[in-house]
Amino acid sequence: MSLPSKYRELLLSDLEPGEMYRRCLAAISHDELSADYALTETIVYATEVRYAIDVIANGPPERLWNFGDLDGRSTSRLFEVLDGVPEMRLAFAGSGPYPITALLAAQRYPDARDIACIDNNIVGHLLGRAVVDAMDLAITSVFAEAADVDYSPFDVVVVAAMVSGKQQLVDQVLRTSDALVVVRGEAGVSDPRLVEINATFRDDGSVKA
Ligand SMILES: C[S@@+](CC[C@H](N)C(=O)[O-])C[C@H]1O[C@@H](n2cnc3c(N)ncnc32)[C@H](O)[C@@H]1O
Repeated sequence: MSLPSKYRELLLSDLEPGEMYRRCLAAISHDELSADYALTETIVYATEVRYAIDVIANGPPERLWNFGDLDGRSTSRLFEVLDGVPEMRLAFAGSGPYPITALLAAQRYPDARDIACIDNNIVGHLLGRAVVDAMDLAITSVFAEAADVDYSPFDVVVVAAMVSGKQQLVDQVLRTSDALVVVRGEAGVSDPRLVEINATFRDDGSVKA
């Protein structure tokens, strides 16, 4: 889907990146646009790339927060699950250029044995890696399709809302590992090791505004 000019102006505006993201979603909803993955990626990357550049240029932010989780409920629910994991080997599928979920986890669990960010987009991978380096955090970065990763070494796998093919990925992780799985969105299966966190994204990773 090509980007309507109204959105181009928003993406290039001087708004705080999270505010710009929220205004884009509000405009999509108002215009009753059905955003496909390409449009979703353009808007999310416009936001995350700006946060990433800021950290790379200026160092760690004063406060880490998730621009997509204004009321903090999604992050609290994630930590409720992660707090119960004794030895943390965490895989985060769908890191993005500003892997806020992994950054928050690394801050909260400094003794985690491994936190691995996975992304199949080279921009997401390289910028996400640069952010982790700028923040001097113990996070590894893997440039791969999420379905191609072996999750058996992990205790918990978090799947980002924008990951394409979430349902198949969740099913694969549950079948091939003993990990707890936390997915932002709907997995289409129920399993005692699965926690779904409400998110307005489709299975192909596009946003439902
Ligand atoms: C923009 S991020 C959002 C996550 C957010 N940064 C966070 O910390 O919660 C979503 C990322 O998922 C990646 N992605 C989507 N589908 C994927 C797949 N099948 N395998 C690996 N990465 C995928 C995209 O390239 C994108 O960078």
